[in-house]
Amino acid sequence: MGIFRIRNHSIPLLGAAVLLSVIPRITAAAEPAKPAETCVECHKDEKFRVQNKKIYDYYQEWKGSAHDLAGLSCTACHNGDPSKAEKEAAHAGMVPQSDPASPFHYKNIPKTCGGCHQPVLDRFAKSRHFEQLKSTGRGPNCITCHGALNAKVYSTTIIERACANCHNAKTKNHPEVIGKAQEILERLNHANGYRKGLRFYYKSVKKPEAMAKVDKAYTDTIDFWHEFDFKKLKPRSQDLLTELKTLYLEAHKEQSGKGDGR
Ligand code: HEC
Ligand code: HEC
Ligand code: HEC
Ligand code: HEC
Ligand code: HEC
Repeated sequence: MGIFRIRNHSIPLLGAAVLLSVIPRITAAAEPAKPAETCVECHKDEKFRVQNKKIYDYYQEWKGSAHDLAGLSCTACHNGDPSKAEKEAAHAGMVPQSDPASPFHYKNIPKTCGGCHQPVLDRFAKSRHFEQLKSTGRGPNCITCHGALNAKVYSTTIIERACANCHNAKTKNHPEVIGKAQEILERLNHANGYRKGLRFYYKSVKKPEAMAKVDKAYTDTIDFWHEFDFKKLKPRSQDLLTELKTLYLEAHKEQSGKGDGR
């Protein structure tokens, strides 16, 4: 499993309605070993496959997601009372998504997700995307790219699907960003490969603490990605790749050096 990384536990400044939903979310995240929620117990019922396909699909998407694996269930993001087995009682406090007070109203989503992913939000808040989201509603929010529940990280192959809806020749909205995004993501994936190699190496020489620096360099860059400033991101991704590759080659040399001495 990946490193459990909630890098900011402070409660961000939010509107009152969103704040109400933030406090239990942070608490939930701090106590991963909690009893199953009634939400899960009821929503996972196979009968919804025919009775209510949408409900069924949302559960299936969450199941096995990074959030599920990290011990976060429904009330990490949704309101409601997970101790109540009755639907109406369990749904208490939930408002429709179209309500501007909903944590899932499109303009509130960055804050909702940012409650746990603060460093990403800090960067995203500086982007053209955020500006557009606020002013015209035409910019993407977190779930436009990540999905509501699955929270999968994008690979280069699916970047086109995530961006081309808005960035294409017809919309004339910077169609060139797709090629640039692919190039940068390829480099980040490459750097991530060295990161995985280094994790394996540092573990084998019993120096797992040496990974902290590597992980920080990588995640800082991913955070920075969310500013969508490719002029700055391109050299930064090149620096990251060089840094991790150098560390990896040094580790490799050390390892084979030891081998010679046997
Ligand atoms: C006893 C079964 C049951 C429980 C417990 C339950 N739900 Fe539901 N939920 C449903 C059904 C059925 C629907 C489909 C809409 C409807 O019938 O109201 C639904 C709909 C929803 C929706 C879609 C919005 C809507 O109103 O249509 C959300 C979001 C949701 N549930 C979240 C939760 C959360 C979060 C919890 C726990 C705090 C929870 N549910 C507990 C059965 C349940
Ligand atoms: C990481 C945050 C997160 C978690 C965890 C999460 N959800 Fe959601 N959920 C969302 C978001 C965001 C939306 C809004 C979806 C959209 O706009 O497509 C949503 C939408 C839904 C909807 C449709 C709402 C509607 O009004 O149509 C249902 C049903 C739902 N979630 C059920 C669940 C259940 C059940 C769980 C637990 C098994 C769960 N969710 C866990 C973030 C989450
Ligand atoms: C209650 C805290 C919490 C909330 C709210 C939350 N997340 Fe997460 N998220 C986590 C944790 C914990 C992980 C797993 C550890 C990690 O990678 O940071 C995670 C992982 C992720 C990942 C990485 C997936 C991977 O495969 O590495 C993405 C992307 C993500 N979340 C997006 C979102 C989005 C989008 C929302 C809003 C709909 C959201 N998160 C809301 C806590 C949260
Ligand atoms: C326009 C698309 C887009 C938007 C909007 C977006 N992201 Fe991302 N996000 C990505 C891509 C692409 C990556 C993957 C970079 C990689 O792994 O190489 C990513 C990576 C991540 C990760 C890191 C996973 C890891 O490897 O540690 C998290 C967490 C995350 N995003 C959360 C969010 C949150 C929270 C928001 C909203 C505030 C958001 N994202 C908005 C495209 C987007
Ligand atoms: C929901 C629509 C939407 C989606 C999806 C989307 N964008 Fe954007 N993007 C915009 C809008 C609107 C702007 C602002 C354009 C302007 O006014 O210059 C923008 C601007 C940008 C810019 C700044 C361009 C510049 O030179 O100023 C970059 C870079 C960018 N997007 C990258 C991406 C990438 C990469 C993805 C996919 C991971 C993506 N976008 C997905 C709507 C979107």
